Amino acid sequence: MKITSFSFPTAIRFGAGARKEVGPHLLARGLRRPLIVTDRALAALPLLAEFKSHLAGLQPAVFDGVFGNPTCSQVMQGAAAFKQHGADCVIGFGGGAALDVAKVVGVAATHEGDILEYVWDHPQVRAIDKPLPWFVALPTTSGTGSEVGRSSVVSENDTHLKRVVFNPKILAGAVFADPELTLGLPAHITAACGMDALTHNIESYLSPAYHPLCDGIALEGTRIAAAALLGAVHEPGNLQARSDMMMASMMGAIAFQKDLGAVHSCAHALGAVCDLHHGLANALMIDTVMAWNQQAVPGKFDELAHVCKVSGGGDQFVPWLRALKARIGITGKLAAHGVRPGQIARLVEIAQADICHQTNPRPCTAQDFARLFEDAM
Ligand SMILES: NC(=O)c1ccc[n+]([C@@H]2O[C@H](COP(=O)([O-])OP(=O)(O)OC[C@H]3O[C@@H](n4cnc5c(N)ncnc54)[C@H](O)[C@@H]3O)[C@@H](O)[C@H]2O)c1
Ligand SMILES: [Zn+2]
Repeated sequence: MKITSFSFPTAIRFGAGARKEVGPHLLARGLRRPLIVTDRALAALPLLAEFKSHLAGLQPAVFDGVFGNPTCSQVMQGAAAFKQHGADCVIGFGGGAALDVAKVVGVAATHEGDILEYVWDHPQVRAIDKPLPWFVALPTTSGTGSEVGRSSVVSENDTHLKRVVFNPKILAGAVFADPELTLGLPAHITAACGMDALTHNIESYLSPAYHPLCDGIALEGTRIAAAALLGAVHEPGNLQARSDMMMASMMGAIAFQKDLGAVHSCAHALGAVCDLHHGLANALMIDTVMAWNQQAVPGKFDELAHVCKVSGGGDQFVPWLRALKARIGITGKLAAHGVRPGQIARLVEIAQADICHQTNPRPCTAQDFARLFEDAM
């Protein structure tokens, strides 16, 4: 039997008000000059000012140059801001985009070269071999779970292809997961991010990799997200639903150390070619890909239907997913979201080259991807 490694390393403070502990936490570590890395839209909201009001005794600076699917150049600008401020630590404050940039700003600020040279499959990948500044993460969306992950997804500046820096060294030193930060999240972002969290849990459960610990987390994460997503979308102030979605989001990202599947390969292609939001892209593909996956792992579909309280067994799981999407306001197929038939060839090329589908329960060829994209149009 093969020897396998298991690791769940991140220290997480979870609960309403956890954001207020960041200041004392940094002071206790002797840190004084954090760089807050956040996105352009968030920086303009009262949320950031409120968070900063809890950083008494610190001299924070804000880098708010993150937007869209973040690019390598945003990371390099963040690194310049880190040096200019004479920062001694990084606070990531935002959704997956801001957190992914925050995770590697410290790398770019302390190491030679462009951040692109640190992506795991770069032909001359550089080592992260110098000490990194202390990094804490505060998610303000419930979807990517980037705060507990060991990867940073950044797009190439010109091609917008998503590249991944994957290294346990970029894990946050501590996560402050405060669901109050998501109370103001608009319904359409709550829905799209929530579908990302659900997809992480489902795809990691379906991945054939041997990881019973993550399987347990993925199934429970699916159960929690399935029960809470409607409430989070339709009752924005429902702190219990917001809290459940934040937990399900972290569980999905912890579980996907056993890897994802073909939904994510499609979503990565849709992000690159059509600049679709990552969660929305997953939501637009998940039912099509799952309908195709089911025959490979019918027992697992029964299990998913069970935890989602879907009656009728695994055969009813995909219809349930479709109904859930409609109830949270994700309507229309790819074409309705601006994807053109002429883009399918490029989408297939990128999805096929993406690593996620290697752990899809059903092997996926270029022809399969073409059919999946056509079905989802
Ligand atoms: N590192 C990983 O493991 C991982 C996993 C999945 C996705 N990703 C990446 O994460 C990114 C997507 O992250 P996301 O889905 O969180 O979206 P996002 O970070 O792009 O945020 C979406 C929008 O929500 C706004 N927003 C965020 N928090 C808010 C709040 N509390 N109130 C109001 N508005 C708020 C932002 O300003 C932005 O306009 C993509 O770049 C994707 O590639 C990373
Ligand atoms: Zn995702």
